[in-house]
Amino acid sequence: MKVIIKDDKKTASVWAAHYIASKIKEKAARTDKPFVLGLPTGSTPIDTYAELIRMVKAGELSFRNVITFNMDEYVALPKSHPESYWSFMHRYLFDHIDIPAENVHILNGNAPDLAAECAAYEKAIVEAGGIDLFLGGVGEDGHIAFNEPFSSLNSRTRVITLTQDTLEVNSRFFDNDPNKVPEQAMTVGVATVLDSKEVLILVFGSKKQRALRDAVEGPMSHYCTLSGLQGHPAGTIVCDEAAVGELKVNSYRYFKAVEAVENL
Ligand code: GLP
Repeated sequence: MKVIIKDDKKTASVWAAHYIASKIKEKAARTDKPFVLGLPTGSTPIDTYAELIRMVKAGELSFRNVITFNMDEYVALPKSHPESYWSFMHRYLFDHIDIPAENVHILNGNAPDLAAECAAYEKAIVEAGGIDLFLGGVGEDGHIAFNEPFSSLNSRTRVITLTQDTLEVNSRFFDNDPNKVPEQAMTVGVATVLDSKEVLILVFGSKKQRALRDAVEGPMSHYCTLSGLQGHPAGTIVCDEAAVGELKVNSYRYFKAVEAVENL
């Protein structure tokens, strides 16, 4: 695992956007096959999305041959609700780039058969050729996508009941009332993310210090599902200085040395 520590959220977000763009272009240069990109919601990726939009508008990047799969969606929240992840993704990315609508995949939290919807999602990822790069964030408790503590590191796309902690953290989008946050969500599994050829996780702010420490220095454990990234051959965390407060000084120094030597 690599941990790239940038001075602040903005610098890290722009770095991530340029990294994603370079991967899209690299694949386009060698094959006509689409680039398959996994995407998160949350406040964390917004600046990265803004930079991707800027690049598309400046003619530096195109999503015409990109297929996306989002990580998760609330169950039974209308698609048109401003806080559905469908609305979020269109507001912050898809409405502003040149991606064909049929290339966008977001779990349908209102599907009549949620288990069938989850199985079809896994199948669609395989049929697209697998995910080239999965971009993600992390919850304060270390969850990746909506893989709450005690989710198997071998988990697949499924319905999950959210923890009280997550309901409270996400209540900021629902009038600060945890009772208004849907109690369940659909999420790709930890194994779905780890099947990707590459995983890039953004971790910003002091509220994520414990999650970062547990994911990087803790044991691989279902208690902090981001720790599953330790088992991935191409896993990278991009964080800001505010998020590293709980890392050991020696870990911090090593990651900064790698960054300098490898010019990351
Ligand atoms: C939700 C999402 C996660 C996201 C997390 C962090 O739980 N399901 O994918 O990583 O929120 O959100 P934020 O980026 O707002 O801190």
